[in-house]
Amino acid sequence: MTLYQILLIFLLWLLNFCCPEILFRRTSVPQHRILGTRVPRTDGKILHRQKRGWMWNQFFLLEEYTGSDYQYVGKLHSDQDKGDGSLKYILSGDGAGTLFIIDEKTGDIHATRRIDREEKAFYTLRAQAINRRTLRPVEPESEFVIKIHDINDNEPTFPEEVYTATVPEMSVVGTSVVQVTASDADDPSYGNSARVIYSILQGQPYFSVEPETGIIRTALPNMNRENREQYQVVIQAKDMGGQMGGLSGTTTVNITLTDVNDNPPRFPQNTIHLRVLESSPVGTAIGSVKATDADTGKNAEVEYRIIDGDGTDVFDIVTEKDTQEGIITVKKPLDYESRRLYTLKVEAENTHVDPRFYYLGPFKDTTIVKISIEDVDEPPVFSRSSYLFEVHEDIEVGTIIGTVMARDPDSTSSPIRFSLDRHTDLDRIFNIHSGNGSLYTSKPLDRELSQWHNLTVIASEINNPKEMTRVAVFVRILDVNDNAPQFAVFYDTFVCENARPGQLIQTISAVDKDDPLGGQKFFFSLAAVNPNFTVQDNEDNTARILTRKNGFNRHEISTYLLPVVISDNDYPIQSSTGTLTIRVCACDGQGNMQSCSAEALLLPAGLSTGALIAILLCIIILLVTGHDF
Ligand SMILES: *[C@@H]1O[C@H](CO)[C@@H](O)[C@H](O)[C@H]1NC(C)=O
Ligand SMILES: *[C@@H]1O[C@H](CO)[C@@H](O)[C@H](O)[C@H]1NC(C)=O
Ligand SMILES: *[C@@H]1O[C@H](CO)[C@@H](O)[C@H](O)[C@H]1NC(C)=O
Ligand SMILES: *[C@@H]1O[C@H](CO)[C@@H](O)[C@H](O)[C@H]1NC(C)=O
Repeated sequence: MTLYQILLIFLLWLLNFCCPEILFRRTSVPQHRILGTRVPRTDGKILHRQKRGWMWNQFFLLEEYTGSDYQYVGKLHSDQDKGDGSLKYILSGDGAGTLFIIDEKTGDIHATRRIDREEKAFYTLRAQAINRRTLRPVEPESEFVIKIHDINDNEPTFPEEVYTATVPEMSVVGTSVVQVTASDADDPSYGNSARVIYSILQGQPYFSVEPETGIIRTALPNMNRENREQYQVVIQAKDMGGQMGGLSGTTTVNITLTDVNDNPPRFPQNTIHLRVLESSPVGTAIGSVKATDADTGKNAEVEYRIIDGDGTDVFDIVTEKDTQEGIITVKKPLDYESRRLYTLKVEAENTHVDPRFYYLGPFKDTTIVKISIEDVDEPPVFSRSSYLFEVHEDIEVGTIIGTVMARDPDSTSSPIRFSLDRHTDLDRIFNIHSGNGSLYTSKPLDRELSQWHNLTVIASEINNPKEMTRVAVFVRILDVNDNAPQFAVFYDTFVCENARPGQLIQTISAVDKDDPLGGQKFFFSLAAVNPNFTVQDNEDNTARILTRKNGFNRHEISTYLLPVVISDNDYPIQSSTGTLTIRVCACDGQGNMQSCSAEALLLPAGLSTGALIAILLCIIILLVTGHDF
């Protein structure tokens, strides 16, 4: 205890006796007093603090005391204490007996160890004064507080060791990037121990930091990502308002510039040469062009188009999204023989432009694409995609039925040789003149056998037989009236014995293998006049056979043969004679057949007499010869 402290306590003790009303109002104040200690002199503000801390129910204690002895906290005193040692002071509450100990005679309180305000800023304790002999309290128990005074023993700290942040390139000076905030565990309500000021240690002149807020801002105009993308900024936070002697902490901020579209696409070459075979079909990709763009992502996206040139209708360009290339394709068939070189003017333009950077110039570029067409030995070309020849079936063998034509499209036109694909003419009915493509017959034709001959003719170059083209030749055989009509079916008919004249006994019809244009028309007539039957043409390609008399008798004449002439009306007229067999049968009243002549096979009434006799004979033989079977 310093001399000063002893003097002070003595002074207060004196005051307490002579004029206590100076110290506290007697009315409602307890009879004991608590004497605080002053804050030890550590800086120039001691007087101010002393006044503030000099309160009756509070002690003040400086944290982080490093002396070797116990740190004095203060003194409890009751005015019942006559100084004769009859009173005993007792301490209870937060840390009583361990952290804080009291001299039970004098009331002096000491702290037994170093105290950290940031751990616990207040300790609430209770004081008691009892009579040693009676053990009765001389004062009511009273509560008081030991408040721990802050010293600047904590440096500001950032929650993150490394921050990452992004800011668009080309941002205007002062664009906010990120805010970093350090915290300080010291008492913010007291002094400057927790007042933090930010400064930049690394990262100038590109970035700056606002001292009070920790907001990092861009500090240079036109910072270009394409030159430098990554920056490492070190920010210091210092307490004591940034003054000398303050504690400090730092953090690193990794700042990445993000891309904006501030670069146009550029073709590396002014002229690009491409080659394509004239045989390349429409849609063939013949090559690509590519413009480079220093930007990234969608800022580097490019759309290609053909803006000029003599090949604008022959070629197309499509933008390949993945590779950012312009693929040139064939839009129309090419022909070396008619044109060998095309020129295109191709433009590449950014698809996402930023109006802020229009002042940097147009965001597009052009290049010239020269396309050479290369010759290909092309196969012969027929004058038509297929041929149809029509020929009558009756032409003579060796007649020319039609001619196919083909030529070699190449500039060095080769002569053509024609041949027939024999698989399409297995019967070898046709031949072709190899030199001039005339098709002729080598066998007779028959429409009724085969109406179509679908052939394949091959044209090959004599100079290069591998170059060949096939064409379909349809040969349709036209009809000639070379077949006579015939009965549609074989007619087996009968006439009843009781038939009357004019009675219908059969309707006949005819067929003809020919196929005249106007359709078939048949005529029916008798080969010779007949007294027994007649034919009546129905004029619809059928005719009726009628009786002409009555009195048919199967025992007299069992079967009549009636020749009928059938003719068509095509040129030349074809006719044939068909013979109708008419049996004579016994019929009932309705004209239903009952029984016909003995030779007839059909006997609906039963077995014939001859058959019955044969069966009887068999039975007799069986009976005579016994049971040998
Ligand atoms: C920050 O940048 C440094 C140097 O460029 C790098 O090594 C580190 O990995 C970065 N840290 C983070 C968290 O991005
Ligand atoms: C093709 O040649 C043959 C035989 O020399 C001849 O009969 C025919 O008329 C020719 N065809 C043509 C279309 O000239
Ligand atoms: C031949 O071609 C014609 C016309 O295309 C078709 O009607 C006919 O069925 C074909 N004949 C054969 C045997 O393929
Ligand atoms: C017609 O019938 C009679 C018998 O009634 C016969 O004699 C005659 O030969 C028949 N005529 C012909 C042409 O069949």
